[in-house]
Amino acid sequence: MIIDKLVSEDIKNGLDDFYHQVFVVEETISTNDDLKKLASKLQDGTVLIADHQSSGKGRNGRSFYSPSGDGIYMSIFLKPNTDYFAILKLTAMCAVAVQRSIEIQYEITPKIKWVNDIIINDHKIAGILCESGMNQDNKLDYLIIGIGINVHSYDMPNDLKDIAGCIEDFTNRKVLRNDLIRNILNNLYSLYTNINGSSYLDTYRDNSYVLGKEIEVFENNRSYYAKVIDIDDDARLVIKKEDNGIVTLSSGEITIRKRK
Ligand code: BTN
Repeated sequence: MIIDKLVSEDIKNGLDDFYHQVFVVEETISTNDDLKKLASKLQDGTVLIADHQSSGKGRNGRSFYSPSGDGIYMSIFLKPNTDYFAILKLTAMCAVAVQRSIEIQYEITPKIKWVNDIIINDHKIAGILCESGMNQDNKLDYLIIGIGINVHSYDMPNDLKDIAGCIEDFTNRKVLRNDLIRNILNNLYSLYTNINGSSYLDTYRDNSYVLGKEIEVFENNRSYYAKVIDIDDDARLVIKKEDNGIVTLSSGEITIRKRK
């Protein structure tokens, strides 16, 4: 059995200097919440990683199951010099960094489900939760990118079994969490330094789980069917509704349509 302990010094060995502070803790409630509480004191490029979260948060008020020893629960504090509308692009950028790292280290090609889920064999193996703070001028003050990845295989709770999985459910390769974390952080930084570039969006589109598919869109307690026709240069989803109307979504919840 491989011992896969999270160690800050191992993560930092080969990590870009941008990440001047990398903290590892055994357990916390939520790494995103921890960084949020400290936001006024933190600098661009601070990272907090936990081996276990007792109440990990997902998008839309959901929880993120975060058992000890098998996953990566990491939050990155950024102070991007961008407007509020760039958050969607930064989320997509982060999804690309995670997708690429898994592809390189495991030699499997995960897909990206707009906007921030990483999928292997129709199972979600990672999710990203971006939370922002605004300053007094209503400009973006900071962004916390929370990444949760199910790495080593474990028994999923019953309610997640059909929709979620772990990377190692789909490959025999083993990667140490410290190595995967370092790779993701380095990939993210190289994309972040070119924040106004858009080549990452080509990777995002090439590996999309939803492009060209029929989906169900959930909005304000109702849902409708549509087909995904594009992901635009602002990482928004361009869809065609059943009445042929074209709609551009910058947030929301979608699922792949299952025909009965
Ligand atoms: C989602 O799938 O809806 C997003 C999941 C994000 C989970 C990560 S784990 C690290 C960080 N801390 C949290 O409480 N959530 C994010």
